[in-house]
Amino acid sequence: MTQHYRITLLPGDGIGPEIMAVAVTVLKTVAEQLDLSFEFQEALMGGAAIDAKGEPLPMETLEVCRNSDAVLLSAIGGDQWDTLPRHLRPETGLLGLRAGLGLFANLRPAKILPQLIDASSLKREVVDGVDIMVVRELTGGVYFGQPKGIFTTETGEKRGVNTMAYTESEIDRIGRVAFETALKRGKKLCSVDKANVLEVSQLWRDRMTTLAAEYPDVELSHMYVDNAAMQLLRWPKQFDTIVTSNLFGDILSDAAAMLTGSIGMLPSASLGASGPGLFEPVHGSAPDIAGQDKANPLAMVLSAAMMLRYGLNQAIAADRIEQAVLKVLDQGDRTADIMSEGMTLLGCQAMGNALIQAIS
Ligand code: IPM
Ligand code: MG
Repeated sequence: MTQHYRITLLPGDGIGPEIMAVAVTVLKTVAEQLDLSFEFQEALMGGAAIDAKGEPLPMETLEVCRNSDAVLLSAIGGDQWDTLPRHLRPETGLLGLRAGLGLFANLRPAKILPQLIDASSLKREVVDGVDIMVVRELTGGVYFGQPKGIFTTETGEKRGVNTMAYTESEIDRIGRVAFETALKRGKKLCSVDKANVLEVSQLWRDRMTTLAAEYPDVELSHMYVDNAAMQLLRWPKQFDTIVTSNLFGDILSDAAAMLTGSIGMLPSASLGASGPGLFEPVHGSAPDIAGQDKANPLAMVLSAAMMLRYGLNQAIAADRIEQAVLKVLDQGDRTADIMSEGMTLLGCQAMGNALIQAIS
């Protein structure tokens, strides 16, 4: 029987629409092969929504997302919206979407592909074999804690405030996702915090330690975030699964991503307790190359694969897409960001066509 899914597409800004178009064709191709059917509905988000509706996350977009089986987002943002008041910025729309869908768990894999090993700025022996999953808490911590704002003190001076806060239940639910993730991987979990300075981190560490008793097969370690940043560059192969708070995860996942050479290759999944997940590339909207058919669509396509695997439980379809990506790389097909000597330079659309061929 045909499995039917309703997918919301948020093409967003910059290169977003171009890479989304490739992901959609790839999904359609796999759907035909595996008796799946996708109903795609497009909605406005980010700068595109600001221009059309005056706000980065219109209520109707959130509704459409809630009424779907999964949400695929390309990228949002651009210079023209950076000077708007904070509540009107594209990023605020993304935070609203995460909160509105309850997406507290963000999975960001950073796996080095043998074909791209020389694209890394680190030595081959350091990055060869790197396969890290960063599990980032996504709806709490300093991004959302209250109070926040820019206030005026009694002396008339301005004071900016954000609050880094976590409740036990917020820590436990991300902790469980991380232990479960580690169980399916190398069974090693490193919890990253700043417990030598921050109370919120002490509670984080205490809860992770308590949770570890429920997962005797997972080896838990703790690391301070400054050291973790250093260790990621020094010897990244020591890491299997990392769990950390919203802000630390934001920073460390970019560092982990860059180990692989190009942020243009990395997908991510954001999941809640129930309801649709959100799947998006780790990279941004690259306004400098937008509309020029130069973008690398592979992170977007791999995000569609993550959607199939983690959001829709369609592992076979996910495998097909991931294998197609490896195949085109083996053939020597490259977009500009991952180009090296002797390889074939392709634009965004041509890379899409190569993927379709590889799948068919
Ligand atoms: C990310 C981005 C976002 C974040 C921004 C765009 C709000 O950097 O997804 O990592 O900080 O979470
Ligand atoms: Mg970030």
